[in-house]
Amino acid sequence: MRYLVTGGAGFIGSNFIHFLFQKYGDDAHVVNLDKLTYAGIRENVAEFEGKKHYRFLHGDITNPADVAEAYAGGVDVVVNFAAETHVDRSLMEAGTFIDTDIRGVLVLLEEARKHAPHLKRFVQISTDEVYGSIDHGSFSERDPLSPRNPYSASKAGGDRMAYAYAQTYGLPVIITRASNNYGPFQYPEKLIPLFVTNAIDDVPLPLYGDGKNVRDWLFVEDHCAAVDFLIERGENSEVYNIGGGNERENREITRGILQILGKPESLIKPVADRQGHDRRYSLDTQKLERLGFRCSTGFEEGLRRTVQWYVENAAWWREIKERNPEFKAYYERQYGARTPA
Ligand code: NAD
Ligand code: DAU
Repeated sequence: MRYLVTGGAGFIGSNFIHFLFQKYGDDAHVVNLDKLTYAGIRENVAEFEGKKHYRFLHGDITNPADVAEAYAGGVDVVVNFAAETHVDRSLMEAGTFIDTDIRGVLVLLEEARKHAPHLKRFVQISTDEVYGSIDHGSFSERDPLSPRNPYSASKAGGDRMAYAYAQTYGLPVIITRASNNYGPFQYPEKLIPLFVTNAIDDVPLPLYGDGKNVRDWLFVEDHCAAVDFLIERGENSEVYNIGGGNERENREITRGILQILGKPESLIKPVADRQGHDRRYSLDTQKLERLGFRCSTGFEEGLRRTVQWYVENAAWWREIKERNPEFKAYYERQYGARTPA
C-alpha cells in the first residue's frame, strides 16, 4: 500500500508514520506532505529520511500543485492529518483554519477524484469537537454536528466536504472523529505537554476556569492503531468515533501530572476561562468496537509514559519553548496578561 500522509511532521501524523514503519518495516511506502507550520517539526520523522520508499514533501494542502505532486507517484491510501489544530489560536485568528481545514480538504479531494480508479481509501481525520459540548451521555455518529468554536467549525466543514465527495463522486472516504490525544511529540501548547514541561521547570500551570471541563483522553498509539484498523476494516462513506474511554476533569489531569513529577499543587494557577469553552466531550464508540477494535493503553500507564517521554526528550521541547520566538510570542499573548480565575 502506498500512503500519502499529510501533516506527517505534526503530533499524530508523525506517530502514524512511526506506526507504519513499525508495521511494514522498510516496505512501508509513505509520502509525507507537510507545510511545516509552527506545529510541523521535520525531526519528528527524520529517522525515515534515508528509507527507499519514504519521501518528505514540503508543501501545502491548499496548493493544488503541491497536492498533485504528492499524488504523482501513485497513491492507494490518503490519510489527511494536516490541519490547524489549536482552539486557543483559532480564537486569535481563524482565517488559516478555514484555509487549511476546509479548503485544503477540498484540494485533496479534487486531486483524489483524478486518481479515483486506484485509490482504495481517503481517511479524513476529523474530531469529536464537531459534535459540540455534551453535559450528560455521549455522542454517537448519528448525532447532529454543533461545533462551537472557530477550530471545530472549520473541522466540521472539512468533515462534511469529505462526506459530500463520497456521496457525489463515490470516493472511498472514511471519516474518523477522535477524542483528545496525548503522547510523545505533542506540541507543547496543548494541555498535557504544556503542563508537563511547565511543571518540570517549576513554572505555573495555567488552568482555565474552574478546571472541571472534561475531555476523553486517547493515547496517540491507540489512535494510530484505530486509523490503521479502519483503513483495513471500515466501510466507505461511514463515520467512526475513536475514543479512549478515559474521561477526566482538567484539574484531575493536572494533579496527576504533578504527582508523577513529584511537584507541589501550589504550581496550579487558576486563570480566566477560554472563551466559549466546551464543557465536556464524550463519545459513544460502540460502532468501532463492534468491528472488533479496542484501545490497549490505560490512562494511568499512558500518562506515565508521556511524562517520561518529555523528561527524556527535554532537548526536543526546549528547542520550541526556549529558542522559538514564535512560541514565546504566542505564550506571552495567550498567558501574559491573563487574569486570575
Ligand atoms: P499538529 O498541530 O500537531 O500537526 C498538524 C500538522 O499539519 C503540522 O505538521 C503542520 O505543519 C501540518 N499542516 C498545517 N497546515 C498545513 C497545510 N496547509 N498543508 C500541509 N500541512 C499542514 O496536529 P495534531 O494534533 O497532530 O492533529 C492532527 C489531526 O488530528 C488534525 O486534523 C486534528 O484536527 C485531528 N485531531 C487531533 C486531536 C488531538 O487531540 N490532537 C484529536 C482529534 C483529531
Ligand atoms: O477533542 C479533540 C480536540 O482536542 C482536537 O480536535 C484538537 O485539535 C486538540 O487541540 C484538542 O482540543 P482541546 O481544546 O480539548 O485541547 P487543549 O489541550 O487545548 O485543552 C484541553 C483542555 O485543557 C481544555 O478544556 C482547555 C484546558 N486548558 C488548555 C490549555 C492549553 C487549560 O486549562 N489550560 C491551558 O493552558
